[in-house]
Amino acid sequence: MIEIAPSILAADFSRLGEEVRAAKAGGAALVHVDIMDGHFVPNISIGPPVVECLRKATDLLIDCHLMIENADQYIPAFLEAGADMISVHQEDNQHLDRTLNLIRAGGAEVGVVINPGTPIEALSEVLDLVDYVLIMTVNPGFGGQKFIPKSLDKIRRLAALRDKRGLNFRIEVDGGITLENIQDVVKAGATMIVAGSSIFHSGDAKQAVERMLKLACHVQC
Ligand code: DX5
Ligand code: ZN
Repeated sequence: MIEIAPSILAADFSRLGEEVRAAKAGGAALVHVDIMDGHFVPNISIGPPVVECLRKATDLLIDCHLMIENADQYIPAFLEAGADMISVHQEDNQHLDRTLNLIRAGGAEVGVVINPGTPIEALSEVLDLVDYVLIMTVNPGFGGQKFIPKSLDKIRRLAALRDKRGLNFRIEVDGGITLENIQDVVKAGATMIVAGSSIFHSGDAKQAVERMLKLACHVQC
């Protein structure tokens, strides 16, 4: 099943509830929330209070993508705020196994993320602990960047590895996804599709989600 995950980083924060309602009306399955601390990535975004407000504004699943140092310290606050899914980066985590178990114990779905420069082999020991793997298709920190084409091969290799090991985590992609390349990432094996600019900067978030979903479903539904 294809899940479109609008990234609110590109939304108008003064009308966040409205923006999320429009995306939901188009068929979005979840809301992707980018948490940036100005250390792990060179940008600062939002924290638990906004997740708490979103929780009240929507019944969509809230997918928190943590791009922060010391994730363990902040995971309880995101759980408390109402996150349904939490993903953490492999790159900033010396105790990844512990962090993933912390998310699991808190009752949220567990995700692990890798940057474009990180090989899928770096996840070998934790693939059996996660519900989803997020493959960054841009270097994290900013919306509106260009999709890195060689990510397609990485998605394919991860899907093959999953099948070989008999696991069933979902594959999420994030960064530079548009109406032009969404079918390519779905063909490669991704089913959770994050998109910020191409939804919230389109002028019609509902229609943008509908179009993405339709294109993705032509490949796999
Ligand atoms: C980048 C974020 C993405 C970003 C995607 O660090 O993780 O979720 O908001 O935005 P677009 O779709 O505009 O590339
Ligand atoms: Zn993200």
